[in-house]
Amino acid sequence: MKRRDFLKSLVGVSAVASVAIYAKGMMGGMMGGGMMGNRGGMMGRGFGGELKDLSSFFNPLKIPEQIYGTLKGGVHHFDLKMQLGMSEFFKGVETQTYGVNGSYLGPTIRLKVGQKVSLNWHNRIGNEATMHGHGMHLPASADGTVHQTMRDGSSWSAKYLVKQEACTNWYHPHTMDKTATQVLMGLGGMIYIDDAHSLELPLPKRYGVDDIPLVFQDRQFTKSGYFSYPRSMMTTMHGYRGDVLLVNGTVAPYMEAEAGLLRLRLLNASNSRVYSFGVDGKVVKLIAGDNSFLERAVNLNRVTLSPAERAEVVVDLSGIQGKKVYLKDYQSGAKVLEIRVTKKAKVASKVPAVLTKLEPVNLKKVVKRRKFTLSVAGPGRLLINSKSMNPKRIDEVVKKGDYEIWEVYNEPMGMGMMRMVHNFHMHGGHFRVLSRNGSSKNVRAWERGYKDTVMLEPSDRVELLVRHTDYSDAKVPYMYHCHILEHEDAGMMGQFTVV
Ligand code: C2O
Ligand code: CU
Ligand code: CU
Repeated sequence: MKRRDFLKSLVGVSAVASVAIYAKGMMGGMMGGGMMGNRGGMMGRGFGGELKDLSSFFNPLKIPEQIYGTLKGGVHHFDLKMQLGMSEFFKGVETQTYGVNGSYLGPTIRLKVGQKVSLNWHNRIGNEATMHGHGMHLPASADGTVHQTMRDGSSWSAKYLVKQEACTNWYHPHTMDKTATQVLMGLGGMIYIDDAHSLELPLPKRYGVDDIPLVFQDRQFTKSGYFSYPRSMMTTMHGYRGDVLLVNGTVAPYMEAEAGLLRLRLLNASNSRVYSFGVDGKVVKLIAGDNSFLERAVNLNRVTLSPAERAEVVVDLSGIQGKKVYLKDYQSGAKVLEIRVTKKAKVASKVPAVLTKLEPVNLKKVVKRRKFTLSVAGPGRLLINSKSMNPKRIDEVVKKGDYEIWEVYNEPMGMGMMRMVHNFHMHGGHFRVLSRNGSSKNVRAWERGYKDTVMLEPSDRVELLVRHTDYSDAKVPYMYHCHILEHEDAGMMGQFTVV
């Protein structure tokens, strides 16, 4: 199949009536009025069709450039330009996109615990925007939310001390009502945080060789190759789904690997889709979740990630030189990355039995319980504790240093008890997942480290142990929200300050 036909074959099953997103001047309010492209998505299963399962993988996986910043006066400066671009996802077909220092997505920002950093963002996308460090432990004024909006043409710097565990975080816009479209257009990238301990572990850590960043995003394309984003109540309610998967902005990706240990850093950077990743025919070792390593590696077949969640897995490819293995998404059944084991292992890495030591959970210290109910009150009415996001309202005030339990409940909708998946993300720091539906046994393997985002199936209730340790600001709030970006933009978000 020729590549152009390949696009056609993919688009053939796509939405007939949907709106192409034109980059400049068309974003935001002007994008209304599109018809939805209903491809028979069932209520509750999500609209937009399944990922296409590919039979051939012909594009080398793109690996984002990694940047360490420039040291000036004791501060590591990173210059990051948010810009318009044209991307060639399909040979000979140009797609209008956004990117950071490039046309689609952005560099992997390498940070080390103890560094003072200044992430200098320059907004040149033709619209207002923000840039948020997802999973970063930082002051609210450096968080990059609606309270730190950059007009087009302006700049903003997030300055802070890197003070958390080694982990994989990411950056993306957090612009009021526009997060979904700005992420969709390509603004985002990874942040690797290392510390002295993580650099010493014998884990694979050669970036792009045996330590691979993987950013997963599903997209719909129009016949002419634009991204399409159907603006409809269906999209708002069920979230955007695409049938073409981009991995680091690559369609049908393959990578070459050594016949040794391969570390994959999985980031679900999709607007709404949930994935269950696994390597066909292999058990993987799960080593990290959102905000830390797990204390001990766990063998498993699948790791389920809702939007914004991360996990790190190590796959053992030794002894299979000359063979191929596939990373798969078991929600859709689609292969998502072809791994060609073509080279001898050059480094003897291993997964140590103990990866880190987390703060022991001590419930005696808990002084407060807060409840957050995620509910749907009607078409487009996505609420937390019966309220829609208002940037002028502070919903919760948290005392610095207090141990609290945050109880989050995904309330089924209406009489029909419509099933809707949500997740819950908290800014400013991390939490521990204590229980799911009343039992700590239901806490999944990838939820056993420090986390910032947790998935809730319909009717699920989770208890989170929360503590905001360092920064207080009575005026500038942090956010909590559902990270299904259509839900977030529809108002399923609240604000809290730490005092
Ligand atoms: Cu990933 Cu409030 O953000
Ligand atoms: Cu965040
Ligand atoms: Cu939601």
